Amino acid sequence: MFNTIGVIGLGVMGSNIALNMASEGDQIAVYNYTSDLTDQLVQKSKGQPINPYYDIQDFVESLKTPRKIFLMVTAGKPIDSVIDSLVPFLEAGDIIMDGGNSHYEDTERRYSELIAKGIGYLGIGISGGEVGALNGPSIMPGGDKDVYEKVAPFLTKIADQVGDTPCCVYIGPKGAGHFVKMVHNGIEYADMQLITEAYTFLREKLLLPIDEIADIFATWNQGELKSYLIEITAEILRKKDERTGLSLIDVILDKVGQKGTGKWTSIQAIDNGIPSSIITESLFARYISSIKEERVIAETILEGPSMEQQNLDKDLWIEYVRQALYMGKVCAYAQGFSQYKMSSDLYDWNLPLKDMALIFRGGCIIRAEFLNVISEAFEAEANLSNLLIAPYFAEKVKEYQFALRKVVCEGINSGISLPCLSTSLSYYDSYRTGRSNANLLQAQRDYFGAHTYERTDMAGVFHTDWQ
Ligand code: 6PG
Repeated sequence: MFNTIGVIGLGVMGSNIALNMASEGDQIAVYNYTSDLTDQLVQKSKGQPINPYYDIQDFVESLKTPRKIFLMVTAGKPIDSVIDSLVPFLEAGDIIMDGGNSHYEDTERRYSELIAKGIGYLGIGISGGEVGALNGPSIMPGGDKDVYEKVAPFLTKIADQVGDTPCCVYIGPKGAGHFVKMVHNGIEYADMQLITEAYTFLREKLLLPIDEIADIFATWNQGELKSYLIEITAEILRKKDERTGLSLIDVILDKVGQKGTGKWTSIQAIDNGIPSSIITESLFARYISSIKEERVIAETILEGPSMEQQNLDKDLWIEYVRQALYMGKVCAYAQGFSQYKMSSDLYDWNLPLKDMALIFRGGCIIRAEFLNVISEAFEAEANLSNLLIAPYFAEKVKEYQFALRKVVCEGINSGISLPCLSTSLSYYDSYRTGRSNANLLQAQRDYFGAHTYERTDMAGVFHTDWQ
């Protein structure tokens, strides 16, 4: 019994988490269902304190008690099978941590089953991809606070650091950590789609060459749009294909996949009456992309507007696109954080919104400069219902809405699809409308279904005999 912590599941993420832990000097036990990945990791670990096991009982028995076991296993059934194979060898007080992208409701079920056996269970959101896992991810742990505290020193050590702040904070009970990771991914989908639309406008409307667009993204990355996703976009656009010499982006098939977390974010929002339209639109954009064969046929049948090439002032329009993208991002993050706020109230989780913005500043895929301002907004008003009404962002979107309107209108008039930019604008306009036209919808419901309505001038529930 000499290993401090054990890692099960040695795919890219699991191996890198194990190597990250080992680089802190702790003895790490590793185990994989098949021995090939274990052997590969041992070869790669070159003298680091990584100790391989080929039998689950040997693995468990090698751990110091209370045992701490990190699962980096594919979400879903494989997690349940691994837990089932571990439990016979565990004792009360041992701790299992799931670092994969598990659905938070699965985490809650596993938490309840294990707590009944005296075993601690943490659902830990980890973001940062393979490089983050190795060098320092952003870590979102959920479960019992006292259980978290037993592993906090390990988690904070392997997390990325921004200044003196580790990108790891206790998120909340039960499935809260995996929930926060899930919505992080929903925001990630929206952010990626918004960037893609800005690129589309620059390329298809302003007709800029790819290298120039790469330079524009690199310049934007020096300012308030500074973020990992903007940075990698500039690098992606510069990459040439070795086979053809073309820009690699131009030989990549326009079909995008997904593993489910963005979809779960939308489902949770829809199930709970949370207006998460930009995130959901970014999911639908992926779905439309994947019906490639239909799109190819439709292109030969359906027409857009006839494109007259106007002479747009290039520099002015590049600045419009920058402002439109920034405002779209503000709206998308506003939706993501209001999904956090509404769900936190709904599940009584007391999510630490300010600290979540802080741990998103490093390690994770959505790391961005403006998370500092988001965190300040929650510092000023812990109960902020929507980022759009925080003074900094209210002022910003007041200034930038003109550009977003220009870009969206120009896109619509040119037949260029900008689903998330236009949804951001609709969201902004509906959110700032105190008296909407939903009264007509309610009247229609009452007309055909006697669903009743409330009045603006007196309390109670009313029905009209419309005919
Ligand atoms: C992260 C990412 C990661 C995610 C992949 C793929 O934060 O490190 O969100 O967890 O699984 O990026 O996601 P999709 O396959 O759903 O696009």
